[in-house]
Formats: sequence, structure tokens, C-alpha cells
Amino acid sequence: MAVVLSEEIAELVAPVAGFLACRTPQAWLSKAAEAAQLSAILIDHANCEVKAAMTAHSMIRRYCLPKGKKQLIPNLDFYQCIDVEEGGLHEQDFLEKRALTAALNSISDITHNDDILAKMARLAREEIHHFEQVIELMKNRGIPYTPMPAGRYAKAMLTHVRTYEPEALIDKLIIGAFIEARSCERFAALAPLLDDELAKFYISLLRSEARHYSDYLELAQSYSKKPIDERVAFFAGVERDLILTPDTEFRFHSGVPA
Ligand SMILES: [Fe+2]
Ligand SMILES: [Fe+2]
Repeated sequence: MAVVLSEEIAELVAPVAGFLACRTPQAWLSKAAEAAQLSAILIDHANCEVKAAMTAHSMIRRYCLPKGKKQLIPNLDFYQCIDVEEGGLHEQDFLEKRALTAALNSISDITHNDDILAKMARLAREEIHHFEQVIELMKNRGIPYTPMPAGRYAKAMLTHVRTYEPEALIDKLIIGAFIEARSCERFAALAPLLDDELAKFYISLLRSEARHYSDYLELAQSYSKKPIDERVAFFAGVERDLILTPDTEFRFHSGVPA
């Protein structure tokens, strides 16, 4: 089946595509569209959503809460140890998510940094919601959520983060913008190649991923005294190389299948 991307979707994706230094290569898209790769794509996608939530969560802990108040936000480690043998999530797995939402709503009065808190709190909630949607979809298709190690993509970009503040924060925010932008671009490129249900799901994710990209980028600029263009160009090159060079592992953000 072929989902035709609407004009509205094309408009959403355009700034993201302009920000990235390259489009996803056809070789990656062809492999991702193979039925045999569906489990790998969905499992890694679920992992990416958890990691996106954890990144936002750790930014709140590190940059928004004063020392001694960090316990106000529960940790997300429970999502790493979901019982995959049982083949899914159980009611109790979601209790901590409710605790997280309550904590995020109640810490704004003591925060040191309102802007990053507001954006990262919303992002963490949305990414956890996306994670639950992927898991639900997998459950309905009988795909078990089995462990899968992360690919090279985020790790390779993070090795370039400067070691002093606020430059470290600025770099992490720029990397966040690239990860979100690439996710958005890949959802749009993949949707027409997948079945109806998946295509609709990926298109439904586009809007929030496009906003996450611009939130990260705006935050990065707001913490820098000078224009961040040079740093953005640097990471654009690093990201492009990861997308256009051969990659032995197949993941949602991997390079050209080797
Ligand atoms: Fe997401
Ligand atoms: Fe996102």
C-alpha cells in the first residue's frame, strides 16, 4: 500500500530535512521495508523512545533541580528491566510513569531553570507515551520485546560533547536536535513503504518529533552567548557521516547497511 504524504506533513518535514546534511539513503530504506526487519525496527524504536525520555529526564535532574531536591523526580531505571520473558508490560510497570508525571508537575516551584524544565518535562512524558504505543503495537503483532544493544549513532555523537559547562549542555541539546530531526525524517520516508497501521503510526509521531527538534535547537541557542551555527555545522557533519557510511548493525538510526 502507499500512503501519500499530505502537504501538511511535507511542510512539517521540510525544516527538518533542511537542517540535516543528508537524506536517508535508499539502501537503508529498502532494508527497513523488508518484512524480516520489522522486529528489529520496532524493538530499536521502542529502545530509542525510552532513551529519549531518559535523556530529557536526566537533563531535568542535572540542570533544573537544586542539590538535595533531586530525589523529587523518580528514576526511570524500571523501564530498562521490564520483564521481557513475560512478553509485555503489566499494570504495575506503569505506576512509576504516573509518579513521574506527578513529580514533573510538582517541581516547577523549586526549579532553577524554567525553560528547560517545561520543554524537557513535556518531552519526557511524550517519549514515554510513544514507547508505550510501540510496545502495544508489538504486542498486537506478537513481536517480543527482546534485548537489543544500541547502535553506534548517539554514542558516536556524544563522544564530541565538550567537557565544561555550559558548552556540554549546548552540545547535548544540539545532539538532541539531530536525533529528533533524523527520527522525523526517517518516519516520513518510511511511512509510504510500510503497512497501513504502521504508516499511520509513524505519521502520527512526526508532529511531536518535529517539535522536539526545534525545542532542542532553541534551548541550545538560549544557553549560548554566541551563535551556535558553527557547532551545529560540526555535528551536522558527524551525523551525516554516521548515516552515509557502512554500518554492520541495523538499527533505526544506523548507516548504510553493510
Ligand atoms: Fe518519540
Ligand atoms: Fe522525540
